[in-house]
Order: sequence, then structure tokens, then C-alpha cells
Amino acid sequence: MGSMDDYPRKPIQQQSSTKSKLKILLLLVFTSLFSIYLFSGSSFNVDWSAHTPRIHLWDSEALLRELNSTQSRLSMSQAQVTELYRRLATSNALLETLLAELGRANRNNAPQEDLDGWLKELTGELKLAVGPHKLPLGESANIRSDELYPTLGTACRRFQDELIRYMSYEVGGECPSDDNLAQRLLLKGCEPLPRRRCHPKSPVGYAEPTTFPASLWTIPPDTSVVWDPYTCKNYACLVHRRHVRGSFDCKDCFDLDGREKGRWLRSYGELDYAIDEILGTKSPGTIRIGLDIGGGTGTFAARMRERNVTIVTSTMNFDGPFNNFIASRGLVPVHISIAHRLPFFDNTLDMVHSMHVLSNWIPDVVLEFALYDIYRVLRPGGLFWLDHFFCLGTQLNTTYAPMFDRIAFNKLRWNAGRKLDRGIEKNEWYLSALLEKPMT
Ligand SMILES: *[C@@H]1O[C@H](CO)[C@@H](O)[C@H](O)[C@H]1NC(C)=O
Ligand SMILES: *[C@@H]1O[C@H](CO)[C@@H](O)[C@H](O)[C@H]1NC(C)=O
Ligand SMILES: *[C@@H]1O[C@H](CO)[C@@H](O)[C@H](O)[C@H]1NC(C)=O
Repeated sequence: MGSMDDYPRKPIQQQSSTKSKLKILLLLVFTSLFSIYLFSGSSFNVDWSAHTPRIHLWDSEALLRELNSTQSRLSMSQAQVTELYRRLATSNALLETLLAELGRANRNNAPQEDLDGWLKELTGELKLAVGPHKLPLGESANIRSDELYPTLGTACRRFQDELIRYMSYEVGGECPSDDNLAQRLLLKGCEPLPRRRCHPKSPVGYAEPTTFPASLWTIPPDTSVVWDPYTCKNYACLVHRRHVRGSFDCKDCFDLDGREKGRWLRSYGELDYAIDEILGTKSPGTIRIGLDIGGGTGTFAARMRERNVTIVTSTMNFDGPFNNFIASRGLVPVHISIAHRLPFFDNTLDMVHSMHVLSNWIPDVVLEFALYDIYRVLRPGGLFWLDHFFCLGTQLNTTYAPMFDRIAFNKLRWNAGRKLDRGIEKNEWYLSALLEKPMT
């Protein structure tokens, strides 16, 4: 395979050679200046006062001796001054070269940081994984380049040590158990992660999945998951987690016989829309494909699947194997964070749904980009069902309503209500809305 080592990485080499040249020059200048300092400090600075002649005019021999010694000291000083001039001239020349080099380096790499943004020089598997790599058939018309950079989250460069750990494995062997490290990196913006050349740990005693459609409402066997990174070590633990003290992401989502079973079937209040009501706002059969952002264990997709609508569910594996669980139900999980550009083309999806995940914990700018991205992937006439968007009452009309107006969805429904438990005293609100991408 194409090795990175024989790949001519000009910019980096140029930079590092310029850098080392500059270092040598700087060293020379400092050595030179330092010697001038030593020279002038210890030997050149002759203390004349100590030699103030205290001689009597009648002592001609002493006078001669003194004159002689003064003369020799003078000639020595003269030599020292000449030497000093010579060294100063050398220093000046070196400084000029240094400044010229600095100027050139700045012109060459003005917008670029050292090492292409990495903190240290890339080596080994990480270097191979992130490229660039020369295209074997030369310049590609589609790419308009003769090299390929595998996709990598921009923030990866900031967490190089963690990334080096992530990329430390035996090629062709088993990947380390590092799901938490991987997900942490991903959430910090190192998304997507680099690809790896190792095999993920396989569940022990894996059994064929439950057949469809029974799989939609069946808790999968524990042997379908590698449990290493989780506190719970089986589904029974996750299902009963709702009785346990402590806060977990999507605490009661794994209990398919509990609250999960009733979700979106009926409207329980003005914030809860029912799936059939929403599908009823469009001609029958025109909502066929979509995305559920942050869809927990996939129940929204399951209910939609029962109505012949195919929903992809994006979810992280916080505190539990959500992706595995969704897949075991016979639904499609994607492991991306809410900061990730949606992996769909413009104007393609009939529906996007999101419950609880989009809310005021997301920085405003990130949220606005996310909402524009939802608009982008929806087809004209496509629906964005914003389900229980959480915020403070003060933010609702000042921040979020204007944001949705800017994005220019049609508002088919818009319901804001106080959060029931602590909502009254804390002025916490939920917003549910049915938004439509305009037809033209
Ligand atoms: C003057 O000093 C030189 C050496 O520096 C010496 O050779 C010479 O004899 C000295 N002359 C007298 C008069 O001391
Ligand atoms: C889903 O599609 C199947 C096969 O086309 C059809 O028999 C069934 O009635 C559809 N179900 C719903 C709820 O539309
Ligand atoms: C937001 O504005 C609407 C009118 O546009 C008003 O009825 C509602 O009470 C306001 N909501 C909050 C939480 O201030």
C-alpha cells in the first residue's frame, strides 16, 4: 500500500527546515552577542582609576615603567576594540539574515500553523489514517486534486494525545475497549473520528436477531452487546434503571412495556402531538422517509415503521448501548452528535423529528446552524416536528421564536407550555411545533 513515508509532504518539510535554519541563526546571534558582553564586561572594561599613576617626577625609571605599561595597556585595548568591531559586524550580518529569513517564513506560511494544525508531528497509524494520500491514478476530475484527505473532525487536532491513544492498537488485531474515549472525542468535535484497522470486540455468544416485526417490541438478548463501558451489564439492569436513583440519559427508554409503549399514540396535552395527527396533515403516503434526531431507543422510528415510514434514528451511546438496541429492534441507528452535519443530501427527507435533545443547552449559534441543516435536508413541503424543546420563558420570545422566524419555516402548529414539575417556580417552558419547509 502507499506509504506516507515516501509521500512528498512539501509544506511540512519546508516549514520544519525553515524553522531549524531560524533556530541555528538565532543561536549564532545570541552566542555572538553573549561573547561581546563577556568580552566588554570582564576584559575590555579596564579599570583605569586603579592604575592612576602615583609617581614622582624624579623617579625616571618608575616613570618609564609606568609609561611602558600604559602604552602596552593602550595597545591591548586597541586590539580589543578592533576585535569588538569585528564581532559586532558579524552579529549585524547574522541579524540581517535572520530578519530576512523570518520575513520569508512569514510570507510562505502566513495563514498556516506549524504542522498543519497538529500539536506535534504525526507518526504511525494516525498519520496513515488522516493522510493525505496521493491518488494512484493521478488527479481526479471529481476531486480536482491529486491527493485525498480522509475525513476528520477539525477539533481532532486539539486532542492529539487522546487521538494517539485511540489510534494505538495492533493492526489487524482486536481494537482496545475504548468506546467511552471514542465518544468523548467525538463530542468534543473530533467528529468524525479517524478510521481504524482493527476489529471491534465481538459480543460473546451472539445469537441471530429476533425476526421482524416482533423485533420492534422485543428486548434483545444480552449477547447482542459488548457491555464493557457501561455500569449496567445487561438489559434487565437498563430496563429497571428507572427505579434507580440518579439521572441517566433517557432513563426509562429501555422499558418497552412501560411509558415507551404509549408515546406518540395519543395527544395527552397540547405539547404532545400524536403521530397519526401529524401524518394526517399531509396526503396519505407522502411521508415515507425521515430522521429522528436524538431518538433514544428508537420508539419513534418503530411507531413510524408500523405506518410504513422509514425513520433513521441518530443517537449517542450515553450510559447505555442505544445504537445496538435500536439496531436489534430492526431499525436504523446512526451514531452522530447534534453538532454533526446531517448525512443526507439537500431536499431529500419527508420528515425530521426531534424530542428533548434540541434545547437551550446548545449554544445559540450551533443551534441555528443545526436548524438550517434540518431545513436543508427536508424536501419542499417536508415536516419538522419539534417535540418538547426546553428553554426558559425569558428565552422563548427573545431568542428562539425569532430564530425559527429567521429560518423561515411555515408554522403549522406552535404550542408553548410551562414544564409541569418545576416549571412554575423556575419559569421553565416547553415548545412543541410542527414546522413545514415552504414549497417554493
Ligand atoms: C617595556 O615593556 C616591554 C614588554 O612589554 C619590555 O620588553 C621592555 O623592556 C620594557 N621597557 C622598559 C623600559 O621597561
Ligand atoms: C404498510 O404496507 C403494507 C405493504 O404494502 C400494507 O399491507 C400495509 O397495509 C401498510 N400499513 C399501513 C399502516 O399503511
Ligand atoms: C410570547 O409571546 C406571545 C405573543 O406573541 C405571548 O402570548 C406569550 O405569552 C409570550 N411567552 C412568554 C413565555 O413570554
